[in-house]
Amino acid sequence: MALLCSSSGCNNTVTSNLACPTCKKLGLDNYFCSQDCFKKNYADHKKVHAIAKKVKSLPRDGISCPQDAPAEVKLSLPDWASNFSFSGSLRPTLYSPQRIIPRTIRRPDYADHMSGVSESEQRDKRNHNNIRVYTSEELDIEYGLRHACKMGREVLDCAGKALRVGVTTDEIDRVVHEACIERDCYPSPLNYYNFPKSVCTSVNEVICHGIPDYREVQDGDIVNIDVTTYNRGGYHGDLNETFLVGDVDDEGKNLVKTSFDCLAAALDLVKPGTLYRELGTAIHKKASKSKCSVVRTYCGHGIGSLFHTMPNVPHYHKNKAKGTMKAGHVFTIEPMINLGNPGDFTWGDNWSAVTKDGKRSSQFEHTLLVTETGYELLTARENEPIMTWNDHLNTR
Ligand code: MF3
Ligand code: CO
Ligand code: CO
Repeated sequence: MALLCSSSGCNNTVTSNLACPTCKKLGLDNYFCSQDCFKKNYADHKKVHAIAKKVKSLPRDGISCPQDAPAEVKLSLPDWASNFSFSGSLRPTLYSPQRIIPRTIRRPDYADHMSGVSESEQRDKRNHNNIRVYTSEELDIEYGLRHACKMGREVLDCAGKALRVGVTTDEIDRVVHEACIERDCYPSPLNYYNFPKSVCTSVNEVICHGIPDYREVQDGDIVNIDVTTYNRGGYHGDLNETFLVGDVDDEGKNLVKTSFDCLAAALDLVKPGTLYRELGTAIHKKASKSKCSVVRTYCGHGIGSLFHTMPNVPHYHKNKAKGTMKAGHVFTIEPMINLGNPGDFTWGDNWSAVTKDGKRSSQFEHTLLVTETGYELLTARENEPIMTWNDHLNTR
């Protein structure tokens, strides 16, 4: 069948592949008979974009409900999940309505974008810049990068304290949301590419980007809490930890400890002159020794004025990451380690990354600064400049 030109009033058939790039991004198929026709009608055509964006931003059906709804409603499956093919035993529930950040708190650019797009990150991507070197001024001023990371640490500690059997991940989200506000910070995940909550909570087979919901944490769960804070000075600090709740089996304990050791092993290599691609080798070695695998889809990243920027930091071996570490670089390492195969896919909520085989996954993350002699953990626990494992610290 011949395809008609999408310009209103134009009856030409489309013979080439001339699609509107904005429509493509929005998931619409609109083709034009010629570049000229497209240009002539653009003022009119672009109204389609505005409508499509509006429709996309409306809350989807069956994903959220108020906190005072009956338990059976709160715990029901979201619409997308009813015919969804799950890999493991975890299921989503509904989640609470969007939480509000007071207008007095500095907001990142994506906070008010319809699709949560960060224009500053998009610009940065187009410019293939070098990795930014942060000055001691930018790090040390009152609301500098160091402060953002310290706030992130405090907020994660609050969330960790609230975690126990029976608490919902929605309640963890509330704790994180309020702890951020108390510290004059914006919770970076909120509306980042439309992420609906203020923190990521990833349970058992969820690798990362789990959405807090009304599910109660169960005895034996492993729960990752990933906090990022954006401060008054305009800097992000990003860290996460996996917690063992109640009586976790030996396989689970080994997995969590292995993911901790993988991050520690990568940190050992950080100093000026090290290639970013070398980190994956150390992580792979540690993981293999414990018969675990390394997730390839999600990587560590540069961070600071932007949530995600250069360098890209893969955690797997034989990667082709670009760049050499230099004093002043600030980035995250956040290996995701699986009990089974490294494969992942995304749930119908468009966020939760889960293992293909349904086996559990664990992660730890720090934001770090490359110094003249090595590194500094910007998201370290107080009085703990080097990561140290303590059996009790992450057990709830
Ligand atoms: N904190 C995550 C990271 O370590 C990113 C979460 S993005 C979100 O990079 F939108 F899911 F919140
Ligand atoms: Co993170
Ligand atoms: Co990160």
